[in-house]
Amino acid sequence: MTLRAKMAAGLAMATALVFAGSAQAEPNIDPNPDVTELVINGEIPITIRAPAPDHLDGALPEIYSGWLYRDASTREMEMDDFENPAMPFVDAGIEAWNAVDGSEGKSCADCHGAIEEGMAGVRAVMPKVNEAGALWSMEDYINDCRVNRMGAEAYDWDKQPMKNITAAIAAQSRGMPVNVAIDGAAAPYWEQGREMYYTRYGKLQLSCASCHQENNNNFIRGDHLSQGQINGFPVYRLKQSALVTIHNRFYGCVRDTQAESFAKGGDELRALELYVASRGNGLSVEGPSVRP
Ligand code: HEC
Ligand code: HEC
Repeated sequence: MTLRAKMAAGLAMATALVFAGSAQAEPNIDPNPDVTELVINGEIPITIRAPAPDHLDGALPEIYSGWLYRDASTREMEMDDFENPAMPFVDAGIEAWNAVDGSEGKSCADCHGAIEEGMAGVRAVMPKVNEAGALWSMEDYINDCRVNRMGAEAYDWDKQPMKNITAAIAAQSRGMPVNVAIDGAAAPYWEQGREMYYTRYGKLQLSCASCHQENNNNFIRGDHLSQGQINGFPVYRLKQSALVTIHNRFYGCVRDTQAESFAKGGDELRALELYVASRGNGLSVEGPSVRP
């Protein structure tokens, strides 16, 4: 065997070990064909299946919301805002939106108006390149307004009240198609993110693609593996009884390969966020969603 063949065999074995003990399901097929639609509150239709965007070029024939992989009771919680445990955090986010804070004596609403109008459609295009040419996530835009426009302190990326505000902002775009830009100034960030997506990390030598592209629809330690889409973020995770940010989820998935993970709010995870978001272009914004 050549060295390259040996390495390939070793990697195949590592992947097989991780997925051992579960019957191999066929990846990249509809995980739940019996479930035909998601309509939130009986009035917001959500696109849960869509043709894969062109840039995926056959890697995934169709894209699916993570909602489709969940069991019936978890799916139902997301169909009604009274059952969705993320909604009290959305209410807290709206309160923060309207509250004056900082040395300039301003609230978000003073400049942006009501959150329903001012933030409609914003989640669908994040992350995006700012005027200075840097890729910014939603959290960066919020903290820029707080620090430079309100004279207030930056929020911690991965804590309340940031998570409340991002949940409240996401909710204003529910049902709108994810549509992040990947060309022009965004292209180098997108390339960096794609590179990361296919890089094998950690002692287990697994990439995002090893699990979410090659093994979606399989079970791993009792979890039904999805395509790892981020259209539903922030998500309310029942296991953690908390809102979980995109970077927190990425951080955990990299750490689970027994690798040193990347900083939440750092450039690497921002680039990865853009790339993963673009794999969901065409699904609806669904956040805040409910996951096990
Ligand atoms: C003094 C006015 C002002 C205040 C107060 C303010 N912003 Fe902004 N905000 C702006 C301006 C100006 C922009 C850039 C232009 C734009 O996109 O509207 C912006 C951009 C944003 C964006 C990016 C929008 C986009 O489509 O690119 C978000 C998200 C945002 N602000 C959230 C907030 C939040 C949350 C608060 C309160 C914590 C807040 N802002 C407070 C003026 C303000
Ligand atoms: C060892 C397998 C494995 C690897 C490697 C892995 N993940 Fe995951 N990931 C999971 C599991 C298990 C879940 C929970 C079930 C699900 O939602 O797919 C998950 C969930 C997610 C979710 C939440 C999806 C939702 O709808 O809530 C995202 C996003 C995600 N992963 C992104 C990534 C990214 C990006 C990478 C690469 C940095 C990655 N994952 C690497 C196993 C993995």
